[in-house]
Amino acid sequence: MSKVWSKRFDSSLNLFIEKFNASICFDKKLILEDIECSIAHAKMLGHTQVISSQEALKIISGLENIKNEFLEGKFSPGAPSEDIHYCIEEKLIKLIGETGKKLHTGRSRNDQVGTDLRLWLRKEIDNLDLLIIDLQKALFNIAKANVYTLIPGYTHMQRAQPLSLAHHMLAYLEMFQRDRERLKEVRSRVNTSPLGAAALAGTKIKIDRNFTAEELGFEKIYKNSIDAVSDRDFCVEFVSASALVMSHLSKISEEIILWVTDEFSFAKLTDKCATGSSLMPQKKNPDVPELIRGKTGRVYGHLQALLTMIKGVPLSYNKDFQEDKEPIFDTVETTSSCIQAMTILISEGIEFNVDNLADSVENDFSNATDLADYLVGKNVPFRTAYQVVGEIVKYCLKRKILFKNLRIDELKKFHNKFEEDIFENIHPINVVKSRISKGGTGFVQVEIEIKNWQKKLLL
Ligand code: ARG
Repeated sequence: MSKVWSKRFDSSLNLFIEKFNASICFDKKLILEDIECSIAHAKMLGHTQVISSQEALKIISGLENIKNEFLEGKFSPGAPSEDIHYCIEEKLIKLIGETGKKLHTGRSRNDQVGTDLRLWLRKEIDNLDLLIIDLQKALFNIAKANVYTLIPGYTHMQRAQPLSLAHHMLAYLEMFQRDRERLKEVRSRVNTSPLGAAALAGTKIKIDRNFTAEELGFEKIYKNSIDAVSDRDFCVEFVSASALVMSHLSKISEEIILWVTDEFSFAKLTDKCATGSSLMPQKKNPDVPELIRGKTGRVYGHLQALLTMIKGVPLSYNKDFQEDKEPIFDTVETTSSCIQAMTILISEGIEFNVDNLADSVENDFSNATDLADYLVGKNVPFRTAYQVVGEIVKYCLKRKILFKNLRIDELKKFHNKFEEDIFENIHPINVVKSRISKGGTGFVQVEIEIKNWQKKLLL
């Protein structure tokens, strides 16, 4: 295929290099945004009278036709066009003739590609936000139904203190809320128009950058044309925010994988989201959370790839930037599909074994802090109380018993301030209930947070 620049060259491109250079196989994803960007540009050229209004209309209706053909499945962009920008321009010229050759006046593919990608990403960020809200709602439903369900809380993967299951779930709502805030912040920078920066220096053609920015719904325009065509910070920022979403998804995935083991038995997988083994008939595998955990690595990889891609690249546009698209596309695809899978898993894929959970908090030493805090309540310095309880733990472990199996006279030998009411105090339900500090797992606090989330999620 002859290239737009072929007049400048004596021979044609090596066929392998032609393919190597091309991005159409992946940037065709930007077709609708490329057309949208071109329509805004043509409108602007008509508005500033760089082209006549008839020419602008002809270009715009040609572009609309291409869009409709694409939406009706009658046109699919692809080789031999080098990229989506040339592809649409070539098709437009074929469709409307000479006037089509005026579309590229006062712009470059450098500001065009930056505009297309930002338009695409802005839309995808909005979609991700909605998906995260759905996930938060699914988690919230579990929380709301389980304020008084207890679950062992861990630090270092060792039993620490019992928790309200709702409190545990609300921790994830907080994480995903931060993810939403981060994405929103990234969106505001994505929502900046580079269009009109042209190749790198701006243009002598009478363009109106605010006009195109407004047409495309951008909040602001880049102030420096060199920066406008060179900036890929937003790609790194977006993938970084997504990497954190994935880290949160992988965290809950790992918990679910543990919870559904025979060893934990805190929950079981329903048939909706579990798979069987090809060999072992008894098995029910947590493929969904395992896949999410595994896919997290892809997004982390994309982040590393993008950071490396922009490193040491001199101003301004360099072809290296063509490598921004696949990581961005795959990050969106991976993150959004993982959020959706997790939402389904949370809504219909797992059931908590409430009895096992109740049982598990009854049979450990996770009320040890409360034994110490009981003495603190009777004016014993915490460090002394802590050591007393340490000794009691050792005593119990030797006899293979729990605090609740001790007699009051045994306890009194460790400290005379222990009274009969200690047993009431260290009952798991009271242990959880008593954590009334702000943000703690005490039921009163959890109920407050449930109400706050209910409002925030507009439920
Ligand atoms: N396909 C190119 C990209 O994705 C479009 C911009 C090309 N610009 C250029 N000066 N070669 O980055």
